[in-house]
Amino acid sequence: MWIFLNDRFVKREDALISVFDHGFLYGDGIYETLRAYDGRIFMLTQHLARLQRSARLIGLDIPIPEKDWPSLLGDAIARNTLHDAYLRITVSRGTGEIGLDPGLCPKPTVVVIAKPFQAYPPHLFTQGVSLITTSVHRNLATALSPQIKSLNFLNNILAKQEATKAGAFDGIMLNAEGRLTECTTSNIFFVQHGALCTPSVACGILDGITREVVLTLAREQGLKTEESAYTPEALRQAEECFLTNTTMEIMPVRDVDQHLVGSGNPGPVTLSLHKQFRAILDRFLS
Ligand code: PDD
Repeated sequence: MWIFLNDRFVKREDALISVFDHGFLYGDGIYETLRAYDGRIFMLTQHLARLQRSARLIGLDIPIPEKDWPSLLGDAIARNTLHDAYLRITVSRGTGEIGLDPGLCPKPTVVVIAKPFQAYPPHLFTQGVSLITTSVHRNLATALSPQIKSLNFLNNILAKQEATKAGAFDGIMLNAEGRLTECTTSNIFFVQHGALCTPSVACGILDGITREVVLTLAREQGLKTEESAYTPEALRQAEECFLTNTTMEIMPVRDVDQHLVGSGNPGPVTLSLHKQFRAILDRFLS
C-alpha cells in the first residue's frame, strides 16, 4: 500500500508522522472522504471545494495547489492498482511545539490514503438499519461548526459509542434546541405525507455532497422537498427514512429508538431515489 505523505508516495510502514503533529495533539486539521468507482472519483470537484472550505474556516493553507489535486488522487488510485476505492485526504496543522497557536506549526502535514472500497453488507440495504437518538448532542454550530470537516471528531465518536452500546447501527444527534441534525457520518432524510424532508443546514449539520445529489434528484422527480427543523417525533410519524453519505450512498433505516419506520422495509421513495442515484453513476462512468 502506497501512502502520499507531504510530497511523495511512501510505503505504508514508512508513512509516519511526528508525535508533535498538532493533528495528533489537538485534532487540529481537516479531512475529506471520497469514493472512486472503477477508478474514477465521484463528485470530485465538490469534495475538493469542501476541502478548501474546511481549510479556509480554520485558517489553514493547504500546501498543494488546488489544480494538482485531481492528478495526485489519480496517482494514489493508480499506485495502489485500485478500481473501487476509498480515499481519505487528511491535512493537519503540522508539526510544532506544544501549544495551541497554529503559528507554532510552519508547515501543514498532508496525507492521502487510498484503499480498496469495503462495501457495507448487502443485507443492510435490503433490511435497513437501526438507529437511536443519542444523549450526545451535535456540536453547537457557533462553537465548532459542523461545516468544518474537522479532525476533531470526538463529538461524533461519543455519539457512535452510545449507539454501538445500544446495539444500533448509528446514532442521530439533536441540536441544543432538541431538533434533529444528522448521524455520526451521514445525513438523515425522511418521507412524510409524500414529501422528502431533511434537517436544514441551519440546524447544525455538514452539508453532505450525497445529500445535495439526493435533493436534486428528488426535485427532478417532481417530489416535494423540505429542509427545516424537526423534532424527533417527526421520525415516529415518518413513512420512510434513510441516511446518505459518500460510502453508503443511500441506506434505508428500519427503526429509530426501537419504533419501526413505516412498515420497516425500505420504502418506494428510498428505493426509487437509490435507483436514480445509481443511474447517475452509470452515466458518470459511461
Ligand atoms: N462522512 N455528516 C457527517 C458528520 C459526515 O461526516 C458526513 C461524511 C456526512 C455526509 O457527507 P457526504 O455525503 O459528503 O459524504 C454528513 C464521511 C463519509 C466520513 O466521515 O468518512
